[in-house]
Amino acid sequence: MQKNMRTRTIALFAALSVLAVTGCGKKPAKAPKNAMTAADSAAAASKQPYAMKEGKRLYNHYCGVCHGESGDGAGQYYGLTPTPANFTDKAFMKSLSDEALYKAINEGSASVGKSNMCPPWGNSFNPEEIEFIVGYIKTLQGS
Ligand code: HEC
Repeated sequence: MQKNMRTRTIALFAALSVLAVTGCGKKPAKAPKNAMTAADSAAAASKQPYAMKEGKRLYNHYCGVCHGESGDGAGQYYGLTPTPANFTDKAFMKSLSDEALYKAINEGSASVGKSNMCPPWGNSFNPEEIEFIVGYIKTLQGS
């Protein structure tokens, strides 16, 4: 009985190793070019530093409705006058220092001589979080 079990176990291992070597003879399905899988984007996200991830999370949650998730100024609240700032506009972004962005977010757009359409966020976020958001919105203009 004992011997029989052992033989069977050995046979099973042999069968498994053949399977492992041949890989069931299946070729992996070819992914279309440039297709980003969920695993890829999760991997990309995990490589982002904490500040960037946090900035993105806060931005998408609190700012995207007006500024758009891509930052182009076309969020769900359309028809705002003036239109929400377009963070994908390189020239516009270049014209604003980090300090100016920080102030506009912290104290609202009225604090930087614009309309009062962008509320002050200083009571919602701590200074570090505002810095994360500044860092994140600066990436929206692309490289
Ligand atoms: C209710 C809609 C709304 C929400 C929500 C909103 N914004 Fe705005 N934001 C605006 C509008 C409208 C302007 C343009 C104001 C102007 O030009 O007078 C603006 C302008 C800005 C500006 C540019 C200020 C400048 O100097 O021109 C920054 C920076 C900004 N928003 C950041 C943010 C951030 C960060 C958040 C989220 C924490 C946010 N906004 C949420 C509507 C919004």
